[in-house]
Amino acid sequence: MYLFIGTAEDCDKKGALEIVNQINNKPDTILGLATGSTPVGMYQNLIKLYRDKKVSFSQVKTYNLDEYVGIPREHVCSYYYFMQENLFSHIDIPAENVSLPDGNAPDLEKECSDYEERIANSGGIDLQVLGIGHNGHIGFNEPNTPFESVTHLVDLTQSTIKANSRFFESEDQVPRQALSMGIKTIMQAKKILLFVKGADKADIIHKALKGPVTPEVPASVLQLHPNLHVYVDKAAAAKLK
Ligand code: GLP
Repeated sequence: MYLFIGTAEDCDKKGALEIVNQINNKPDTILGLATGSTPVGMYQNLIKLYRDKKVSFSQVKTYNLDEYVGIPREHVCSYYYFMQENLFSHIDIPAENVSLPDGNAPDLEKECSDYEERIANSGGIDLQVLGIGHNGHIGFNEPNTPFESVTHLVDLTQSTIKANSRFFESEDQVPRQALSMGIKTIMQAKKILLFVKGADKADIIHKALKGPVTPEVPASVLQLHPNLHVYVDKAAAAKLK
């Protein structure tokens, strides 16, 4: 495991540069992407590097980790909307190259198996961006999700609904379900970049990286990944030193 500890700004910068290097080495890179507040600064750096002509996304394909069930794509809280706002509309990635699970598909089970198949058929994810939830979730893989899980329909836990309610008008507007890549889907990525920020993540990142590997802390599975790069800001790294 490669572990970088620095300011949040340095994490964003270095992480973005690592992604740009990946794309410049393999222009048709398959990227796995994440939402949440953590990767926003890193995405801003990617946009800047694109504007400075250090990278082109014209051949890149992306697969997002997850999406809520039952809110329209145009809703400001959908992950589709988030990705357009925070990255896709600012770079030269062709619209047909970006994929998120469709939380409005008529048959959600079929959507999950199709999504998994599309990832596999594209050759698999070269580099997966990840954040971590306070309960150790990655994507929307809540505690006790089997390590063998592939893309699936998830019932969100009360703690995740509460945590994510900050983006909605009220807690009862947060969807109760989501579609998420599984833990196995994530672990199949050739490289994983995990970003962790803020004092409120200090406990969980310590557990995830230094504690036992257990489905109770989904992110602990990352200890088993052969190519894990972790960018932790100083506040979140308080217990790692
Ligand atoms: C959400 C997302 C995760 C994300 C997590 C942490 O529930 N599904 O992919 O990593 O929240 O979010 P934040 O970065 O805002 O703390």
